[in-house]
Amino acid sequence: MYCVRNVTEDLYWVGANDHRLALFENIHPIPRGVSYNAYLLLDEKTVLFDTVDWSASRQLIENVEHLLDGRPLDYLLINHMEPDHGASIEEILLRYPDVKIISTEKAFMLMHQFGFHIDSHEQIEAKEGATMNFGKHTVTFVYAPMVHWPEAMVTFDVTNGVLFSADAFGSFGALDGKLFNDEVDFEHEWLDDARRYLTNIVGKYGPHVQALLKKASTVDIKIVCPLHGPVWRSNLGWFIDKYDKWSRYEPEEKGVMIAYASMYGNTESAAQALAAKLCEKGMTNVIVHDVSNTHVSQLISDAFRFSHIVLASVTYNLGIYPVMHNFLMDMKALHLQNRTFAIVENGSWACKSGDLMEKFINDELRDMTVLNERLSLASALHPEKASELDALADCIIESMNGEKK
Ligand code: FEO
Repeated sequence: MYCVRNVTEDLYWVGANDHRLALFENIHPIPRGVSYNAYLLLDEKTVLFDTVDWSASRQLIENVEHLLDGRPLDYLLINHMEPDHGASIEEILLRYPDVKIISTEKAFMLMHQFGFHIDSHEQIEAKEGATMNFGKHTVTFVYAPMVHWPEAMVTFDVTNGVLFSADAFGSFGALDGKLFNDEVDFEHEWLDDARRYLTNIVGKYGPHVQALLKKASTVDIKIVCPLHGPVWRSNLGWFIDKYDKWSRYEPEEKGVMIAYASMYGNTESAAQALAAKLCEKGMTNVIVHDVSNTHVSQLISDAFRFSHIVLASVTYNLGIYPVMHNFLMDMKALHLQNRTFAIVENGSWACKSGDLMEKFINDELRDMTVLNERLSLASALHPEKASELDALADCIIESMNGEKK
């Protein structure tokens, strides 16, 4: 059965929701599913904007066939060639042998690489700033390299202000009937997944997101149609502000993420004691994660969210606990920067994790601050250490208030 929704009077969402995929890109858990958004414009010419993952091809085909109702598909416009959007290109080409393909030179190269038989179709290269008219609607092409692949572009409909934004402004989470941002409680139910999506998928490419935001600020955008998650037709400035912060690596909130690595619960106990101390002192914007059972994509998302990060790690094989090390490596890979760290270390017979974590932060991460106060445990946190715990909490709060480093 087809499943479509109007975006505007002649533009339709023709994508699909996926609740079967457990791991996006075979890495990131998506317990709320994901949507693959594609859009069909029924103008004098008919235009399909992007396709969907291979697993959702059948739904896309049903949707497009239903809306075309016997009309030909004139154009297939590809903004982004990653297979979660481009995998169904071949299916479209087989069903619409006269369809012309509009995309970037790099995307055409990738289509060949993925083995799509595009050469029997007319290929129209979308040049930066060029325009195309489909009847009532005229669109212009804006290159968006590395948001999130090098071939990516976005397409702006100058007639009605619709921006087809590719991976930008997307989110994990299946739509399940709802389409627009004002049909969901985005701030409370979606923001976390939107942050986790952006920071893990495109986090490394902040300057490229910034470049796209700069280009986008020059046009009057009324509706944003991303390739995942809700379509934005209101409150866009609020969401752009989030994107701006994430892509500048600026903390979204003053607050503390405590990430702990604990083998037998003693480091965990210290992490909880620190959380309670912070709250007692009035800093209640605190979140605590066990790195062993919190997916690193969530740790990354909260590292982008909060201004302060406490790493509390047991020493393991005279090194950093492996899962904590993995978190550090991911922060490095995604170019997280401009955060303040505090360190809690533990070791029963050779406490090394604190020095090693501090060295990693200073040597491998960018523009980070490590607070001077450190809490060192020998096996467990004992009452004699209460003043040190207190001092660490004070130090974090003072640093947050700009009083201490
Ligand atoms: Fe949703 Fe970069 O693809």
